[in-house]
Amino acid sequence: MNVDEPASLMAPFSVDIDIDRGLLLNATGHLVRKASDMRGHYADADALAELIAEGDDPVHYEVFEVPVPDELGHLMYCISTLQPGRVGDECFMTKGHYHTMAETAEIYLCLRGEGIMLMKTADGRCASEQMVRGKMVYVPPYWAHRSVNTGDDEPLVSFCVYPGKAGHNYGDIEREGFPKRVFKRGGEVVIE
Ligand code: PA5
Ligand code: NI
Repeated sequence: MNVDEPASLMAPFSVDIDIDRGLLLNATGHLVRKASDMRGHYADADALAELIAEGDDPVHYEVFEVPVPDELGHLMYCISTLQPGRVGDECFMTKGHYHTMAETAEIYLCLRGEGIMLMKTADGRCASEQMVRGKMVYVPPYWAHRSVNTGDDEPLVSFCVYPGKAGHNYGDIEREGFPKRVFKRGGEVVIE
């Protein structure tokens, strides 16, 4: 071993991604968030309560990953799959977060479906980018980010890459809220 190499040198590896279906085939980490995990996030709390009670608490989104060490130098990556649906007329979305190390960026490559990436800074700036197969969204440092599925039938599937040390800070954006929401009315996507 070269003297400059760390004692715990990781062996290279590869993973299989089914790009059409948006699946990380040998994922070992699997996070599932259901409608009941989204309380407090939608404008219409009654519509969410009804979806949980009468719609059998459907899965909102899943994250599939093969974890790497959460250390400087590593790149964490995952497949995020967000189902289509509405709470009232608000499109299904992820909780959204800042990174715990706010100065870390993230790349989202959309593999399937259609949607919007909503972003916000702590000082109140807001931005959105379209997500569609082949579109890569660069989330710069300091921007909270939330993906939204604006489709009717297809899941919104993205491949995400971010620094291993980034971490997820849900608390700050939960307190602040995103200044914009995404609705679908009469077949039109409305951001307001
Ligand atoms: O790291 C990311 O930004 C994504 O992998 C998200 O964690 C994923 O889309 C789920 O969203 P959230 O973490 O906001 O629940
Ligand atoms: Ni992130």
